[in-house]
Amino acid sequence: MTTTSNTGDAQGGGAQVFWHAGLVSAEERRLHGGQRPATVWLTGLSGAGKSTLACALEQRLIQAGRSACVLDGDNLRLRLNSDLGFSAQDRQENIRRSAEVARLMNDAGLIVVCAFISPLRADRDMARRIIGEDNFVEVHVSTPRTVCEERDPKGLYKKARAGLIPEFTGVSAPYEAPLLPALALDGGALSLDACCERLLSHLSQRLA
Ligand SMILES: Nc1ncnc2c1ncn2[C@@H]1O[C@H](COP(=O)(O)OP(=O)(O)O)[C@@H](O)[C@H]1O
Ligand SMILES: [Mg+2]
Repeated sequence: MTTTSNTGDAQGGGAQVFWHAGLVSAEERRLHGGQRPATVWLTGLSGAGKSTLACALEQRLIQAGRSACVLDGDNLRLRLNSDLGFSAQDRQENIRRSAEVARLMNDAGLIVVCAFISPLRADRDMARRIIGEDNFVEVHVSTPRTVCEERDPKGLYKKARAGLIPEFTGVSAPYEAPLLPALALDGGALSLDACCERLLSHLSQRLA
């Protein structure tokens, strides 16, 4: 019997910890689940529409008979990552843990839709390495900052401009746009439905 794709390439644990391989292969899981797993990684500024799009895509995938799940950056920060702040180091750890969770969900056969600002290229590249090139689909929700700031649904830009939120992405902390995303969707120019359609059409080629 072959082992899972999730081989023991992890670094942690120390000398007394050993990877325990499973008995179900990635191919067996794919056949069992009837789909190829993927992680759709939505990156973009606060207010760009990542969470809204992630939930809409999840719903559309479920309606199409797929098994899908959202991992939302804010939701994870309220629970699993509640000990982390917004320093570069904490942002990196936030992405590392979240990517590890996405990887586990992919190993379980799910399509994972991630909504994370994930402003730094190096951190997204780390997520890509953790999740694996084959499963990682980087999507830039490229809504311009001016539009995001105008929307400001949570009043965060206003607070950041008033100096009340240090290191706010797009105002006082950098956002590094992906250089070669699988897809870029401008949520300022495209409706939610249009964004969803483009994503579904892109994914249809790889989920079969
Ligand atoms: N394609 C879109 N067109 C117009 N408004 C959108 C679109 N996508 C999201 N929105 C709106 O933009 C705001 C921010 O969306 P949200 O999903 O919370 O952004 P993010 O998760 O990127 O911070 C919400 O009020 C949402 O309804
Ligand atoms: Mg969000």
